[in-house]
Amino acid sequence: MADFYDELASLYHLLFDDWDAGMERQGRHFATIVRDRWPGALTVLDVSCGIGTQAIALAANGYRVTASDLSPKAIERARLEAEKRGHDISFSVCDMLAAHSHHGGGFDLVISCDNALPHLLTDESIVAALKQLYACARPGGGCIITIREYEKEKRGKNILKPYGVRVEGGDRYVIFQIWDFEGDIYDLTMYVVKENLESGQVATETMHSRYYAISTTRMMQLMREAGFERVEKVESNYIPVLLGGVPA
Ligand SMILES: C[S@@+](CC[C@H](N)C(=O)[O-])C[C@H]1O[C@@H](n2cnc3c(N)ncnc32)[C@H](O)[C@@H]1O
Repeated sequence: MADFYDELASLYHLLFDDWDAGMERQGRHFATIVRDRWPGALTVLDVSCGIGTQAIALAANGYRVTASDLSPKAIERARLEAEKRGHDISFSVCDMLAAHSHHGGGFDLVISCDNALPHLLTDESIVAALKQLYACARPGGGCIITIREYEKEKRGKNILKPYGVRVEGGDRYVIFQIWDFEGDIYDLTMYVVKENLESGQVATETMHSRYYAISTTRMMQLMREAGFERVEKVESNYIPVLLGGVPA
């Protein structure tokens, strides 16, 4: 798992049309939700921050952010990106399954966004992770989780998921994934085709990972099983946002 994101770390922003605009959009959306559900919340723990998409976005909206991820290379890049934008975020490498012993408790909000939890391949391991998020949040705090809406995704073999074409630094990148399902689990191959626009030279990198195509309904049940209350789903124009509260 960490290998996939280590390999992807330098290219991850290319999954977005415009990563900075994506961060701004997610930051605005999350800040609106947090002000409404948890007014006064200030501290946020991101347990799967990757290169910092939500961590940086929330810091830009005035939150005090602590962030970790399993991938050392993603954390290395997140540190640089936060520094470049003038944000003071405490980053570290940590498996979310050990989040409480690593970070301790008392955070107003704990987040795991953009489909990180479905990397855990069973209900049992997802509940174990959700219990860690719960333990890291203060009484009266909560969690924000975003995952793909797998109930709307086609299943089968050789499913093509195009990400688009990006041009950066004299290179053109064509990025797509192929999904191969076996039950609820699918193997994902990420293809990054890079063409140098001057020489015409083309190189393709492939990276492999696995996901559990858990439905948002099942994820919400598992959130309740882990102890969260007032679990709800908020629609967004990107992926749905799942919220859970910790009893006061
Ligand atoms: C799709 S990326 C999303 C990253 C980030 N939230 C974003 O939107 O840019 C999923 C992230 O989950 C992380 N991850 C997967 N399993 C993890 C685990 N057990 N503990 C911590 N991070 C994990 C990966 O390393 C990866 O950075």
